[in-house]
Amino acid sequence: MLTIALAKGSLLKESIKLFQSIGLDFSGFLEPGCRQLQIVEPTGRAKALLVRNGDVPVYVEYGQAQLGVVGYDVIREKKPNVAQVLDLKFGGCRLSVAVKATSPYRSSLELPMQGRVASSFVHCARDYFDGLDLPVEIVPLHGSVELGPLTGMSEAIVDLVATGNTLRENGLIEIDILFHSTARLIAYPLSYRLNTYKLHSDIDRLRKAVDAQTIAVGDG
Ligand code: PRP
Repeated sequence: MLTIALAKGSLLKESIKLFQSIGLDFSGFLEPGCRQLQIVEPTGRAKALLVRNGDVPVYVEYGQAQLGVVGYDVIREKKPNVAQVLDLKFGGCRLSVAVKATSPYRSSLELPMQGRVASSFVHCARDYFDGLDLPVEIVPLHGSVELGPLTGMSEAIVDLVATGNTLRENGLIEIDILFHSTARLIAYPLSYRLNTYKLHSDIDRLRKAVDAQTIAVGDG
């Protein structure tokens, strides 16, 4: 059965809407109190797995899921061996460097040498500061990284920014952007190449649904 890995959290609602538009209904995941981690949709043609954002590429890389929906940020951080097949255009955010608004730093290059940068995107942060030739220590955290500068543990953070509310509410400001991110459709490379479960036809229909949505938004 065609298996699709979906990310819990902010991408889930839009992901479900997208698959509904091609006749695959996984809306059961959104029902209040639902604790199910896999759902077979009513036609019995496909199954979805509900996993953490960062684990989506793992299921797809190992072939347990032939398709997955995940943020480009995760792809950049984990560099999984998967086929990136479609930009789904939702879940827009950016990976940015931020500091306390009261700090003197207004660009990454002004950060002190050997300073500390807290992040859960350790590889992206490392690559970025190496690219600037700025020797900083990357402090790995798994969430609430905004507390790094607030507690004085780090001068800066590298974290995702969407609305900017989290930064604002914590007295932080964005000083540089590493890259922009949106949700991506990824595929198990072997299944994609061999077109198992007629993957190409589903991907084509998803592409058309994304294009139609983009045009509708553009028109609006
Ligand atoms: C992300 C990110 C920020 C927040 C930014 O956290 O780490 O904390 O969203 O969004 P905003 O700019 O719209 O405020 P997420 O909610 O994904 O949870 P996390 O703490 O597990 O990363």
